[in-house]
Order: sequence, then C-alpha cells, then structure tokens
Amino acid sequence: MLDSPVTLYEQLAGRLQAAIEHGSLRAGDRLPSVRDLARREQVSLATAVSSYRHLENLGLVEARPKSGYYVQPRAPRMAEPEMWPMSVRARMVNVNTSVMSILAAMRQPGIVPLGAACPGPALYPTAKLRRLLAAQGRGNLEAIGRYGMGMGHPALRAQLVRRYAHVDVLLDPEEIVVTIGAMEALNLALQAVARPGDTVAIESPTYFGILQIIENLGLKALEIPTSPRDGLSLDALDLATQKPGAVRALVVMPTVQNPLGAIMPDEHRERLVAMMRERGIAIIEDDIYGELAHGGPRPRPLKSWDREGNVLLCGSFTKVLAPGFRIGYLAAGKWQEKVEHLKFVHTVSTPEVLQSAIAAFMESGGYDHHLRHLREAFHGQLRKTTEAVEQHFPAGTRLTRPAGGFLLWVEPPARLSGLELFRRALVENIYIVPGSIFSGSDRFDHCLRINCGYPWSAAIEQALTTLGRICHDMLAEAEAAG
Ligand SMILES: Cc1ncc(COP(=O)(O)O)c(C=O)c1O
Repeated sequence: MLDSPVTLYEQLAGRLQAAIEHGSLRAGDRLPSVRDLARREQVSLATAVSSYRHLENLGLVEARPKSGYYVQPRAPRMAEPEMWPMSVRARMVNVNTSVMSILAAMRQPGIVPLGAACPGPALYPTAKLRRLLAAQGRGNLEAIGRYGMGMGHPALRAQLVRRYAHVDVLLDPEEIVVTIGAMEALNLALQAVARPGDTVAIESPTYFGILQIIENLGLKALEIPTSPRDGLSLDALDLATQKPGAVRALVVMPTVQNPLGAIMPDEHRERLVAMMRERGIAIIEDDIYGELAHGGPRPRPLKSWDREGNVLLCGSFTKVLAPGFRIGYLAAGKWQEKVEHLKFVHTVSTPEVLQSAIAAFMESGGYDHHLRHLREAFHGQLRKTTEAVEQHFPAGTRLTRPAGGFLLWVEPPARLSGLELFRRALVENIYIVPGSIFSGSDRFDHCLRINCGYPWSAAIEQALTTLGRICHDMLAEAEAAG
C-alpha cells in the first residue's frame, strides 16, 4: 500500500483548524484536554500533542500553563470579496505590455517583495538540492555530455506517477512530458487544444500568465466568475458553454486558485469533469499549487475523475521545491502526441540533470517533510499579513481567506486605482501586483494581490503599514475630489 503524504496528526489538526476557521470553535474557547482529544479521536497521546503543537505553530491556538489549549483570540475579520455577476462575452486579451512593465519593477534593488508569487529562497532545501545536483552530474557525466532528447527523465516520471497515485490519478510514466515550468506546460496544452480565434474559458480573476499565453496565441478569453471560497462558478460556466462548439477549452486551478486561494469542493470537481466531457470542451488543469492546500489531505485533481483523456494536467516544482530549476510537467491525455511534437519544436527537451536531482530528492524521502514545513510557514505568513491588513487598511476593505498557498487578494473600498497604489508603493520601495492584470476587463482595477511567501519580518510589517497609509491617503483624496 502507498503511504499517505498527510500524517495522522496533520489530519486531526486540519479538522480542528477547519472548526476554528468556520467558527464552530470560537476565539477563547477551551479545547479538549490532550487525553480527551486522544480518546475521542482514537489516536495516541503523542499524536494529540503534535496536533495541538502544529496549531500552535500556525498561531491558531495557545497553550496556557496548567490550564490547557485555547483558541487564539482574533481581531474582527474583514469580509471576503464577492463574486462578480456574469457577463457572457468572449474577447481578445491585451495584457502583455502592462504585465511586463509591472514585473520589471520587481528588479528594483532592495524592494520589499509583496508582488510576484515567489516565496523566500530560505524556505527551500537549497543546500540538499545543490549536493544532489552535484552528485547527479558526477554520477552520470553522460547526462551532461549527451544531447537529451527524451520527453522526461524516467526517475522523475516514476516519482510523479507515485505521488499522483496517492490522489487517485493513475498515470503511465510515458504520458508525462517534463517541461520548463508550468508556463511551458500551459503553453503546450493551449496550443494542442486550440487554434487562433478560438475561445477559452478562464477563471476571473486569473493568473496573468494565462492571459499572456491567450494573447500570444491569438485566442479569445471568456471570463467566468470565480468565488474566493469554492473557485470557478459552475452555474456561470454551464450558462456560458451551452452553445455547442462555442468554447474550445477551459483553464482552471481547482486547488488553491491564483489569486483567490479557493479550493473547489469535490462535488463541483466531479460535475465539472462530466459537464466539459459532454460538451467536448478540453480541461487544462493547473495543479501548480496542488501540494499547498493547508491542513487536511491534498484534494484530488480533476484528472482523477477523467476517464477519456479530456483533462490536461499541468504542474511544476517551481513553487514547492526548486524555483530556480524551472521543472514542470504535463500529462496531456488524448493530446499526448500533439504535445510531444510541440514540446520538441519549442525547447526539444528539459535538462536531465535538473530532473534527476529533483527525482533524487523525492526518492530520499524528505519531500513530505519539506512540504509540511512549507505549508506551515505559508500559513503562518498569511495569518500575519491578514492581521496587518485588517489593522492598517481602511474599513470596508475586503480580503480573501486562502485555503492554501501564499497569496492574499485584497479589495480596498470604493474604486481606488490599484495601478496608482502600485506606483505609490514603488516609490516607497514596496512591490505589489495591481488587480488590473488578473483580467482582460477593468473589473479588478481597484484590487491588489499580496505575496506572503517571504518569512515575516519587520520590513514586511512596515511595508504593510505603509500600504495601508497609502490607501487611506488615496481614499481621502478621492473624497476631497468629490
Ligand atoms: C497559477 C500559476 N500557473 C502557472 C505558473 C507558472 O509557473 P512556472 O513558474 O512553473 O512556469 C504560475 C506562476 O506564478 C502560477 O501562479
């Protein structure tokens, strides 16, 4: 039997965390004693203690000497953003120029990195990866001297097959094409399923890279409302895809949507796969944040419900293990052959030594341990950032409560310009990403996305205070201008 990547104490902590986040356990409530918890859940005392320690590290509970564990008191929460109403119109996208100029600001020296979805390098096992990389090079000089032509290194494919089997995705090693990050995987997938002029349904807001690819390929985007809680609205998608042949493909992030952090419930996943199959619409599943759901077990990808090869599963190690290696992958179902041709024409193949170093890391058994730490760190960082936004941003600001990952979506009150906020923040050496680039429309122009991937620091705290002050200033100016 395959071992589960989620330990018993994590599962138990995940259930308690859900009870806290959904309000059935309230701030200040006393939690059951360790002994009672162990008895009730039929786990060992050590497991019960580990669950409470885990929640303590996440800042959700506190231990009071000689009294037990209590749910941490919290400041009142800001409301979550609302899903926008549907307007069914596919349109050409034009975001590349603004995305590239906004991304360029990231290179400003000494900037506080609250913009791009790039976590702090210290969170990754770089020393171990460096050793493994050197060992791969030494042990297999041929891999450096040889012209690698394969679609994927066998050891990495085997590791991916094994990991996805845990979540009911049964892949054949040969169907995995290893790519240069998820960006290449998404590019290949979209090129395989769509022709210029075709319409592609996407979440709204969505990761701007997807909009950039759609623009480059001359496709049209049909933006589907997406909830910060459940992700893509299936009712809206249902309406938008009634006309046979009108939509060629759907790009979707069911697990930890970027930028909203939503997780689609299993019932929705099943319905989505069936609906798209019936209507002949290919699903491109972006699973890049699949391992980063907080608490509980990793959700099953859409691909696990796919029996016809209609789901193209894209993923990457850039967020979870080795950002600098740029290793991603794609299992393209019935478009496999097409994808292999496209991959060859794009980049021929993906560097083998990098693939084998990642495979060696996974084989070493340290991957789950690393992921646990990463998730815990992100959760803590998200919590601190949320508290700072709640403290410093104007009343009426809305913000997401992401179910995973490390991104926060903030919607200040009234219609402030996110782009102006971005510019003013830059003057203060703070980098954020304005909401405008997450859609082909102006719907999110007043929003911003905050990267919480860096360990909490005084500089980040100060930057969030400054951002809040800028929002207050802008609101006051807007009021004064009438
Ligand atoms: C949702 C999503 N998909 C794809 C990518 C691209 O990933 P990669 O860096 O592996 O190319 C990103 C990067 O931020 C992302 O957030």
